[in-house]
Amino acid sequence: MNFNFEKAFVNDDEIDLYRSRIEKAHYDLHNKTGKGSDFLGWVDLKIDDNELSRIKDAATRIQEQSDLLIVIGIGGSYLGARAVIEALSHTFNSKKVLFAGNNLSSDYICELLEYVDDKNISLNVISKSGTTIEPAVSFKILREYMEKKYGEEESRKRIFVTTDKAKGVLKEIANQKGYETFVVPDDIGGRYSVFTPVGLLPIAAAGVDIDELLRGVYDAKDEFANLENNPCYKYAAIRNILYERGKKIELLVNYEPKLHYITEWWKQLFGESEGKDNKGIFPAGVDNTTDLHSMGQYIQEGERHLFETVIDVKNSNKELMLSCYEGSIDKLSYLDGKTLNEINHNAMKGTVIAHTNGDVPNVVIEIEKINEYYIGQLLYFFEKACGISGYLLNVNPFNQPGVEAYKKEMFSLLGKK
Ligand code: PA5
Repeated sequence: MNFNFEKAFVNDDEIDLYRSRIEKAHYDLHNKTGKGSDFLGWVDLKIDDNELSRIKDAATRIQEQSDLLIVIGIGGSYLGARAVIEALSHTFNSKKVLFAGNNLSSDYICELLEYVDDKNISLNVISKSGTTIEPAVSFKILREYMEKKYGEEESRKRIFVTTDKAKGVLKEIANQKGYETFVVPDDIGGRYSVFTPVGLLPIAAAGVDIDELLRGVYDAKDEFANLENNPCYKYAAIRNILYERGKKIELLVNYEPKLHYITEWWKQLFGESEGKDNKGIFPAGVDNTTDLHSMGQYIQEGERHLFETVIDVKNSNKELMLSCYEGSIDKLSYLDGKTLNEINHNAMKGTVIAHTNGDVPNVVIEIEKINEYYIGQLLYFFEKACGISGYLLNVNPFNQPGVEAYKKEMFSLLGKK
């Protein structure tokens, strides 16, 4: 990965003023002495070999017995898997993994049932607490559907549960029904759990090489372990400095449609980690160049409370060269001999220039290409940067007390005792 912080327009002296705070955040994160220190298992993550084999075995069985896997989960029990699967799968070829339990829409679940009716399916229900209402309701509906379709015995082979090792309703159901279970580690919160069984089982079932993904994660873990010259820490400091300057909104920008759900994952990571105590940057995202024709106007000339973090994917996996001869009907001869990726990159570079000229600071993060290894690196980079950034903001980046408020009101409306 390469980083270009120049166009964030934050100078080294300003970052130096953060030096002692970065040092403290670094030691707190690595020595587990800061806020939320019970949830730092992801920092030095290492997946046990037996657990990894069990995940791969289950993924193979899912692939053999099913046309589709339905993954039931929400928030941190959903977005990481979806982000990685969408980034690393063919854009149009029919999908191997579908998602449920991330909403309460009647139309959504009914249409899902219609769609899978003539297909063989497996389920992976994921909930750390085992009590979250959205996945609980979807799982009830889908489990009953499975039992009707396959019978108890066969359903048992097709339902996989990822939850706490001992507690929660989901664990009780799994024990009673005899489903194969995977454990969400105690010391890893939902939005940091993509590289645990929470993400790895659905990702492997989608046909993604999880060894390569983890190789990227482990390399990033080493690369971003030190206090000195750590781009995670520089990014974290720059975000906080820009926030203090009134840049209250950060847009994650991509130029690859496959990265849309990486942005959704990133929004949860930063939003849920930092948005508390009446502070925090509001994380949003745009998919370019699509959104240059919708949000581009605002970004260029609207209120100046924005900065952007651009993901620059250097090489495309598939290449296409244009041949547009002089005088041709489409008047595109200036593109003759250029690859589509080159054109996309010029759109990106031009946008960075235009937006920074318009007082929207830009950080550019370059990855070589979209593959398992670099996606693993990228996500770990953001996790580490987010933990440090939250500490610099002086919040607990590992809790989410605010999520309870809507639940309380909803349960009271639904008459839950
Ligand atoms: O990051 C988090 O902790 C949350 O987004 C949770 O993942 C989300 O609320 C789902 O919780 P659970 O896995 O307990 O169903």
